[in-house]
Amino acid sequence: MSLSTDTIVGVVGAGAMGTGIAQVAAAAGHRVVLGDAVRGATQKAQASIAKAMDREVQKERMSRDAADELMSRIDYQWEPLGDDLSAYGRCGLVIEAIVEDLDVKQALFRRLERAVARDAVLATNTSSLSVASIASSCDVPERVIGIHFFNPPPLMPLVEVVPWLGADPALAPAAYAMMARWRKAPVLASDTPGFIVNRVARPFYGESLRLLDEGFADIATIDWAMKDHGGFRMGPFELMDFIGNDVNYAVTRSVFEAMFYDPRYKPSLTQRRLVESRFYGRKSGRGYYDYREGAVRPEPKRDDAIARRIVERVRAMLINEAIDAVHMQIASPEDIDLAMTKGVNYPKGLLAWANELGLEPILGTLEALQAEYGEDRYRPSPLLRRMIREKRRFFA
Ligand SMILES: NC(=O)c1ccc[n+]([C@@H]2O[C@H](COP(=O)([O-])OP(=O)(O)OC[C@H]3O[C@@H](n4cnc5c(N)ncnc54)[C@H](O)[C@@H]3O)[C@@H](O)[C@H]2O)c1
Repeated sequence: MSLSTDTIVGVVGAGAMGTGIAQVAAAAGHRVVLGDAVRGATQKAQASIAKAMDREVQKERMSRDAADELMSRIDYQWEPLGDDLSAYGRCGLVIEAIVEDLDVKQALFRRLERAVARDAVLATNTSSLSVASIASSCDVPERVIGIHFFNPPPLMPLVEVVPWLGADPALAPAAYAMMARWRKAPVLASDTPGFIVNRVARPFYGESLRLLDEGFADIATIDWAMKDHGGFRMGPFELMDFIGNDVNYAVTRSVFEAMFYDPRYKPSLTQRRLVESRFYGRKSGRGYYDYREGAVRPEPKRDDAIARRIVERVRAMLINEAIDAVHMQIASPEDIDLAMTKGVNYPKGLLAWANELGLEPILGTLEALQAEYGEDRYRPSPLLRRMIREKRRFFA
């Protein structure tokens, strides 16, 4: 199992992610094979990569020759992929980026296994399924790994490398090194629901929704507070509308179920109703905000005292989640902070932020919430208490 600059990279699925991953691999100098089950998908992918290259040339970030050379490295499969995946026979690494459905992914991996060499690496870009559940359907499961990119892959530096329990121990370091060569910011995450980012980020949405449901503040005010006082690039409601409420709700549900219904990850009824109403966000014209023509954007209530309380509560929940991810050995503190800054553009790493604010006030906020609500959702991570007791700080 070797992953080198000469490795031919296969990408299965030419949707939003597969197209971006193919572009990133070609930019790193690999020959790439890109295919999809649906007619026209690779044509769309080619047009989208050509457009991205035109933009690079226009902005003088790339010469026309370099852009053309990059594009020539991608071998598009114009015919829809069927049972025969022999087009991927030359690939030393195949990254799957198809629909998020376990049965469909397992069936694809079984077919891929028959098409590639025995030492080829098979990777999944799944966001919410366990890598173990995909790998275990294979005859040679030890060569399967999670390589999780963020959307859009050419712009987002973070890549979560996710080895499953039975993965060849040499595989994660090899995938990590390859992602570093691709000029990505790789982190190592354990094969647990949501990996790092989709787990640690849950309270950004969930706690903001609780504040909304309780009538503590409206969406415009919460978004304003998280941006102006919290330093986040987008407010939680703007971001959910951008991601799509259907997608965001599905991720929340999947993490909640996969975590055996831990109340910390409980989805919101408000968001469920939005999805049922097809208020998906920007893409459907309505979400938390109204994006239809002529719609008036609501104004926030610019009250600094309210903003401070909003930020304090959501941030304490986020930091608690990050600390608990360290506690549960999901990833190293360094990788958790890297993941949240490079994968979702948080203004600071949550653990570095915890150091800056002091751990005691964070514990104080959580304990006050737990006392008031009597909900397990607000339970402080044991590691938070332990670090205070032992007078420890992160990265010290
Ligand atoms: N969109 C995101 O923000 C994001 C981020 C990280 C990871 N992911 C994950 O990446 C994967 C792809 O997501 P996406 O947003 O690109 O989806 P998408 O719907 O844009 O693209 C999926 C593509 O896969 C094709 N496809 C479906 N079944 C196939 C099969 N059996 N063989 C070949 N092609 C098949 C579809 O025709 C489609 O073109 C999912 O597992 C998703 O969870 C998505």
